[in-house]
Amino acid sequence: MIHLSIDYSKVKQFISEDEINSFQKDLTKGHQQLIDKTGKGNDFVGWVNLPSEIDEELIAGIQANAKAIKDIADIYVVIGIGGSYLGARAIIEALNHNFAALKDDNKYPFIVYAGQNISEDYMAELLDILDKKDYALTVISKSGTTTEPAVAFRILKNHLEQKYGKENACKRIIAVTDKEKGALKKLSNDEGYQTYVVPDDVGGRYSVLTPVGLLPIAVAGFDIRKLIEGAVNMQKHIMNSSYINENPACLYAALRNALYVKGKTIEIMVNYQPNLLYITEWWKQLYGESEGKEHKGIFPAGVSFTTDLHSMGQYIQDGLRNIFETVLSVDKPHRNIEVPYDKEDLDGLNFIAGKRIHEVNKMAELGTMIAHVDGGVPNIKITLPEINEYNLGELIYFYEFACGLSGYLLDVNPFDQPGVEAYKRNMFALLGKPGFEKETEAIKKSL
Ligand code: PA5
Repeated sequence: MIHLSIDYSKVKQFISEDEINSFQKDLTKGHQQLIDKTGKGNDFVGWVNLPSEIDEELIAGIQANAKAIKDIADIYVVIGIGGSYLGARAIIEALNHNFAALKDDNKYPFIVYAGQNISEDYMAELLDILDKKDYALTVISKSGTTTEPAVAFRILKNHLEQKYGKENACKRIIAVTDKEKGALKKLSNDEGYQTYVVPDDVGGRYSVLTPVGLLPIAVAGFDIRKLIEGAVNMQKHIMNSSYINENPACLYAALRNALYVKGKTIEIMVNYQPNLLYITEWWKQLYGESEGKEHKGIFPAGVSFTTDLHSMGQYIQDGLRNIFETVLSVDKPHRNIEVPYDKEDLDGLNFIAGKRIHEVNKMAELGTMIAHVDGGVPNIKITLPEINEYNLGELIYFYEFACGLSGYLLDVNPFDQPGVEAYKRNMFALLGKPGFEKETEAIKKSL
């Protein structure tokens, strides 16, 4: 039994069962290729068996580290970008109090992020805060050579050493990187940092269940065992069958590809809970980087409703009809607030007095789905019973497997990202990095 469910009744007027089922043969093949490691990018499918193979010693070690960090740090800085950042942030924000930054009774270090941008003001303002707080950090980079986190780490390493002295600073740094390659690995060896390994066969955007995600999530006070348990449950379920009507990953991959071939080239992930915003960001990276190649692929976008119904709602209802939505719906909130009764009823809201806010949210969700479907936007609905570690574990594995399958249906390699190198080459050339002289000349000519 899995907790996650998919409802596709609101795509049925756009695509037929036959069109959905036409992907079955290729899905069965892709399912087998992911399990047997025989498809495109098969060097990077270590994530497929990862949940059930996570070492008990690794979990216990991460939990022990998290406990030690809690004793010495009010703030934990997670340095990383892309797949070395978004998974941890997605899970931490989904589980965290929405106003954690303002709470004065936090039991665990407050997590902040660095190295996911190159904004000088962001860094300066982070240092303003770190000047006054006890902190520790992790620097996460599989390649160990990515510019954004490397710049952030250089600055924060200096700051930490000035604040605590070199020896004590060293005890406040954990690096998560390749087992032997890259500048970060070398630096960690030279400086004596504790390190965790990103497995060779797991790419960044599929790495949330490695120390890349597990360490920050544990430091933030969340139960990584439950997260893994949920992922293991989904792994077993997905491994069991490749049938569209039994395997939610196959169903989701079939639905989105059936819509894609009908010209629905943009998928908008919708949430009605603001703390799911970074789940959308993580999903955008997972699908965008995995599928968007060879001039193919669904463009993954995201909105937070009802907030964005007052901005993007207009376009979704009435704009170009090349979009479909996937609503990530949550059945049960953790808290309970009712709309109060008001004697004067000047705002005319007494018709919902006594109703829970969640019920209003749910009616907004249903009303919006009906309106968007009427407007020509198919809606897939993925439901979680509630937001907790276990259900998020299921969700992660489900999205990952569906993404691998979807990439295979498109006939691309879902595990590489050659396109992200282009900006790096230009940036290095513009900054005068040795070895990029030819590119520098070419850019100068083109400007
Ligand atoms: O998914 C990916 O592979 C990328 O998004 C990387 O995670 C990202 O570019 C960061 O790379 P690295 O971990 O090597 O610093």
